[in-house]
Amino acid sequence: MRKACQVASLVLQEIIDYLKPGQTTRDVDEFAARRILQHGGRSAFLGYKKYPSNTCISVNEQVVHGVAGGRRLMFGDIVSLDVGVSYGGFIGDLARTVSVGGCAVEAQRLMDATEQALYMGVAQAMPGNRVSDISRAVQQCVEGHGFNVVREFVGHGVGRSMHEDPQVPNFVDGKSSPKLRPGMTIAIEPMVNAGVAAVKVLNDGWTVVTEDGSLSSHFEHTVLVTDGEPEILTWHEQPTSALRA
Ligand code: MF3
Ligand code: CO
Repeated sequence: MRKACQVASLVLQEIIDYLKPGQTTRDVDEFAARRILQHGGRSAFLGYKKYPSNTCISVNEQVVHGVAGGRRLMFGDIVSLDVGVSYGGFIGDLARTVSVGGCAVEAQRLMDATEQALYMGVAQAMPGNRVSDISRAVQQCVEGHGFNVVREFVGHGVGRSMHEDPQVPNFVDGKSSPKLRPGMTIAIEPMVNAGVAAVKVLNDGWTVVTEDGSLSSHFEHTVLVTDGEPEILTWHEQPTSALRA
């Protein structure tokens, strides 16, 4: 799991360094495919339930599962990059949203709130806690910033398969949820809309967009529950936005 997650996070960083206005999402996806193979992995997404791309690239109002195609990235877009790598029989899964060269203040605020919510969730991935402790922390953080969590898609256990038990929702519904135990590996992945929580799926059968056309952001880490502090398996040192500019 450590190795698969390290490859996935390295590839994601390489994609972010590569991104430029004018590229199509297909350009970005093809670059990602080459990098994954270069590192000895393969895409965990390509062919999964017939998913047609190597990565998910979701621009602006697209929430998740953005299928690569002819859409060109423009200065000021925000783009959610989701990378899943299969390596040595295990899967690493992570995502982050970045701007293309910079973006509106409100878009940055949305991304920052989503990233913060992810880490609030990760901090709850402690033995003895329940999945709902993660869900609650994420939801409170997002709603505290005035944004909304998506209900239709959730985080998940991840290991030899991409989607394992338990489901890790970004909201609480009062139902009881499983206890977290050392050795569990879970993908925590808040999907956050600037407008309404509702989403719809485009005719391609995959790309999820906000119902009201508002911006959406997505951050994800694969996390190991230990005897003590959670270990973020997909951790990768990020340049600060000041250095990136
Ligand atoms: N990180 C996403 C998830 O956990 C990516 C899946 S895309 C798919 O669901 F196409 F492979 F389904
Ligand atoms: Co995932």
